[in-house]
Amino acid sequence: MDIHSQKVLVLDFGSQTTQLIARRVREARVYCEIHPFNWPLEEIKGFDPKGIILSGSPASVYDPKAPISDPKILDLGVPILGICYGMQLISHQSGGRVGRSSRREYGRVELTFQNFQDLFYGLDRRINKQGQIVWMSHGDRIERLPKGFIAIARSHNAPIAAMCNQARTVFGVQFHPEVVHTPAGHRILKNFLFKVCCLKPLWTPSSFIRHTISAVQKQVGKEKVICGLSGGVDSSVVAVLLYQAIGKKLTCIFVNNGVLRSGEAEKVIRIFRGHYHIPLVYVDASRSFLKKLKGVVDPEKKRTIIGHEFIRIFEAEAKKIGPVRFLAQGTLYPDVIESVSFKGPSAIIKTHHNVGGLPVRMKLTLIEPLRELFKDEVREVGRNLGLPEEIVNRQPFPGPGLAIRILGEVTKARLAILRQADTIVWEEMRKANFYAKVWQSFAVLLPIKTVGVMGDERTYEHVIALRIVNSLDAMTADWSRIPYALLGHISNRIINEVKGVNRVVFDVSSKPPSTIEWE
Ligand code: XMP
Repeated sequence: MDIHSQKVLVLDFGSQTTQLIARRVREARVYCEIHPFNWPLEEIKGFDPKGIILSGSPASVYDPKAPISDPKILDLGVPILGICYGMQLISHQSGGRVGRSSRREYGRVELTFQNFQDLFYGLDRRINKQGQIVWMSHGDRIERLPKGFIAIARSHNAPIAAMCNQARTVFGVQFHPEVVHTPAGHRILKNFLFKVCCLKPLWTPSSFIRHTISAVQKQVGKEKVICGLSGGVDSSVVAVLLYQAIGKKLTCIFVNNGVLRSGEAEKVIRIFRGHYHIPLVYVDASRSFLKKLKGVVDPEKKRTIIGHEFIRIFEAEAKKIGPVRFLAQGTLYPDVIESVSFKGPSAIIKTHHNVGGLPVRMKLTLIEPLRELFKDEVREVGRNLGLPEEIVNRQPFPGPGLAIRILGEVTKARLAILRQADTIVWEEMRKANFYAKVWQSFAVLLPIKTVGVMGDERTYEHVIALRIVNSLDAMTADWSRIPYALLGHISNRIINEVKGVNRVVFDVSSKPPSTIEWE
């Protein structure tokens, strides 16, 4: 069975939750893609979606620059679900009336469902004798239904909080079923996929693995493939997946840039060479990286130096392997969407891919087996491939490594301090079961010294900052409200065990305006 044979199209009108909609659809084991709202009708027909979801938007349908999709989409005969702005647009394009509500509805709202077929099938009529709680975030609302539609839910502020045209299988909801604050949201989306669109849950990690292995085999033939391994989730999953597909035609290259965490290189070698027997070239280039970084304090200079040096070494090693046609890379779906998105949210954040430019320089064709996956899906695929939890659950780690967590010059002595503190953070977060619950948790070595007292002695030593954040995609982040006791414990251990540190501080800034990394 072709895993792409039953696809859903998510049209993006600029909502912050568009990716979340797609992730929920994927969680229900249905393949979907996000495309901009103005994707031409012909392309949509060619894509052959079995269902279309129109996302929300910060705009109002009356804005002169409002994102408006081709109204003929509504006549394709494909089931449609409009969410928030998506619902208003359906109404606007079908002859209903959208008006400004006297009060904005934002946050948790009680909703009363009026119809329990299709979309709201199986939902509780009343929870706690009140309505169902849903998440709203809208100014405009539907004031008059388009012809052929009926209202299927109401809230205090929105008498038409959901609508449907059963004959045409077109639905609209004013609330956001994709967010966790709408407890019934998952069920509602599943109802749309399975009851309205009559889809089958074909998109599973094992079907993805089977499909990818056979696609890679076809693409590669007898040629050789190289893959830059970093020890992170994405490149690890790529390596194991490719090895299953093409065996020893794959060679992985792992460059130790001297700014890795403690024990990282040994771990990668143990897992990939020792356990998986994947051909792995290990290059310890620590000395040359550290030599180039000597005296450098500017964060962007550090990045550039590490990036260039990496490319130089990678290229030299690749040449030794012989004629190679392909370079495998762990590009993920959010990177793909960003490059096609109609407004391109924050392209700046992803400028740090270390192998950027490599494929063109080396005339290599890219293999990107994960380019259809969200991070959670990569982890699921990794688990399915039998990768250990320590890799599958690994937090993101930047390419320039500890160099951008040592503010000021990167020296051996300062690296030793940060490595020790970093290990303590890692150990304690894991022990307290918080490591996998946060997006990233790490230590930063500050370029200042402060006064302290140890025994009867006055000390004048380094400061470690703890950065622990929650995030969905690293675009925005908030500092994690982890228990004080855990913070205290980490701080005590660092000050007691890491020689040269007498103070630990906790970073309570969100992104924006701060970034996750300090450099
Ligand atoms: P910021 O600090 O921009 O980080 O909020 C967002 C995410 O990207 C990671 N990051 C990097 N990754 N090379 C990388 O490969 C880099 O130069 C780099 N800088 C930041 C960061 O760890 C976070 O997950």
